[in-house]
Order: sequence, then structure tokens, then C-alpha cells
Amino acid sequence: FDAVDVIAAKRDGRTLSREQIEWVIDAYTRGVVADEQMAALAMAIFINDMEPREIADWTQAMIASGERMDFSALSRPTSDKHSTGGVGDKITLPLAPLVAVFDVAVPQLSGRGLGHTGGTLDKLESIPGWQAGLSNEAILDQLEDLGAVICAAGSGLAPADKKLYALRDTTSTVDCIPLIASSIMSKKIAEGTQGLVLDVKVGSGAFMKDLPKAQKLARTMVDLGQSAGVKTSALLTDMSTPLGLTVGNALEVRESVEVLAGGGPSDVVDLTVALAEEMLRLAGKTDIDVRSALADGRAMDVWKKMIRAQNGDPEAALPVAENTEVITAPASGVLSRLDALSVGVASWRLGAGRARKEDPVQDVAGIELHAKPGDTVAEGQPLMTLHTATPERFARAIESLEGAVEIGGDLSAVSETIV
Ligand code: URA
Repeated sequence: FDAVDVIAAKRDGRTLSREQIEWVIDAYTRGVVADEQMAALAMAIFINDMEPREIADWTQAMIASGERMDFSALSRPTSDKHSTGGVGDKITLPLAPLVAVFDVAVPQLSGRGLGHTGGTLDKLESIPGWQAGLSNEAILDQLEDLGAVICAAGSGLAPADKKLYALRDTTSTVDCIPLIASSIMSKKIAEGTQGLVLDVKVGSGAFMKDLPKAQKLARTMVDLGQSAGVKTSALLTDMSTPLGLTVGNALEVRESVEVLAGGGPSDVVDLTVALAEEMLRLAGKTDIDVRSALADGRAMDVWKKMIRAQNGDPEAALPVAENTEVITAPASGVLSRLDALSVGVASWRLGAGRARKEDPVQDVAGIELHAKPGDTVAEGQPLMTLHTATPERFARAIESLEGAVEIGGDLSAVSETIV
């Protein structure tokens, strides 16, 4: 095969054969196909789309570029969750220990944030001592002992995706259903989970801004999982406003611990419970009173063991920002919009996220919300508190919040549906 012919075929709207796809992914992983050639191919896919058969072959080829994990020797079934990314989405933190309470193992191989969406590992790293990296053997041991592990995905899983994702990020080819679906599913299938619940976000803070696109992405990923032998389902959930009342690394850990202690904001609790029930259902467990394990401390027990197993101190005080600034309500009335993307970008600019892969993040940076859409507010009342270690960042963060708040308009949110 020749890279130029493969690019030309996709450019001209033809479908690629399985052999062409296997060759191009393998050659790209080995450095035989150059970055500029893969960038051209990604753009041709972005413009001309792929058929379901091509997406399945593309996904399989990315899985074959690296190692596969195998959890079949564990004494309990495995079930995992993947969110397509949002603002304030800390659900993985309470969810993994909660599901483990019911003898289903959760292998959460996670990533870091890029752009305005946060990363699970960045959040957990705000806990003093906590280590993201584990060997494959340590992952298996922890799953057998505790039933839950949240750690960095090793570089061995789908290395073709690692290269391709970085390339897409710099060539404006991220926002493309076949490329997103194959990227996410190649990693999850290679991870070896037996069950997978996808939390596909819809709204301003998500990749998919509208419901039809989110439904198409969900359907594509569910089909890829099912045909690879992974029991897969998807929830479509709202990301027009941040989840919960905190955005930013240590702030989100604090809220997750509140949920594990039986409290926390109701939207975070409800989504955690809905995803836990679905993960348990895929593992064959129905009619389970999931909420009781948050109320009675069983999920908290697993959380503390899980944090200690990775050198973290679950009792240690979380870091707190030295600089804060309060934003107040511009008028009285019902808060009708608090835009997820604007809050995500503001939190990122305060230092919670990174502009380049290698940048550090601030543990303490982020935003605390004091009201959510649907709440009645009075003019001058605090709406949010911005946190940062570097106060020179306030001005740019506040700029990105312009137009983010609306009082007295129509309330709109996506209601949850299942695929
Ligand atoms: N997350 C991924 O892992 N890949 C994508 O392409 C988009 C989101």
C-alpha cells in the first residue's frame, strides 16, 4: 500500500478496505506513514465520514497497535464507565468505589484534562501523596483486593490512538464522530473491561453540542463495543451547565468526598447512582439499593482504601487557594443559564487546566458555584467564587464569564435518555 493512495481514496469519498486501514494504522504507529500524511487522512475522514464497517476496522487496527489487558482471572466481573468529557464532571471519583461495594470490579484507566475539560488523574493528584501510575500487575492486585482502581492508562494501550489524538488536537480534527468513537472505544476495548457504560455529554460544555449528534456518537460507540464482545450501553446526559457546585481539581475532590459521605449536590448524586445502577446491570446485578452504600459509609470505606493503596492520604487536608474573587448576580430573578463552556474555560484560565500536554496544573484553581439554573437569586448575591494560586489570572478568567449568566430567561436542559 501507499499512503498517498489511501489519502486520495478518502479525499475522493471512497470507502477504505480493511487491509488499507490495518496497513495505514500500523505504518503510522511505526513512523512509516508521516504525521503530515496522517493529518491529511484525518481531515479527509473529517470531511467525508466513514461507514460503520470502516469505523469498526479502524478501531480494531488501533487496538492491535498495542497490548490488551485481561481481567478474566479476577473473582468478580468488571464494569467500567467512560464520560465523553465535561465541566465539573467528577463522577468517576465516587462511582468507582460505590460500584465496588457490590462485588463488581471497576478498572478505571483514566486520562488527564486537555482544554476546558478536566481530567480524573489531575483531580486525584490534588490528594497529598496520591500516585497515578501503576504496573499492570498492581492494577490486577488492587482490583482483586479492593474492587476498584483509578490510575493512568499505561502507554501500551492503543499507542496508535495516543499519536493520532495528539495530531488531531493540533489539526482541528478532534470533533469528528468516527474518530472520537474509535479513539474512545479502542482504549476501552483494549483495557479488557467486560461491561462499559458510556456517559455521552450533550450541551455547550461537551464535544457534542446537540442531541442528534450525541445520539449518533452514542449509537456508534455502543455498536463498536457490542461487536467487540463488551456489554455496552450509553446514557445521554446534560452538559449545558457544570455538574455539581465545583469545577477544578481539589475543589472537585472535596465535593466527591461529600457525596461519598452521603451528602453532596443532588445532580452529582443522581448521576452517580444512575451510572452505578447501569454498570451493575451490565454485570448481571439488578434491584440493588445503590444509594444505601453512600448513606451508610460502605462506598467511603472503599474510597479510603483505594486512595491509600496508591500512597494517598484520604484524611489529609486538601490544598486551598490563597486568592479568591466573588462574582455576584447582576439582577434579581430565576437563574436561567449558567453556561458550562464559559465556566470550564474560566476555570482552565485560573490554572485548573493546561494549554499544552506537558503543562502543570494547579491543584487549588477552579470555581465554586453558589447557585444553579432554576435557583432564585437576588441582585448582588454571590453567584460564584473563583480560586487561584496566581491572582494575575483573574482578569482573563472573568472575561470568559461574560455572557455566561442569564437571569429570567427560559430554562433548558437535556433530559437523560438511554441508548
Ligand atoms: N476522548 C478520547 O479519548 N478521544 C477522542 O477522540 C475524544 C475524546
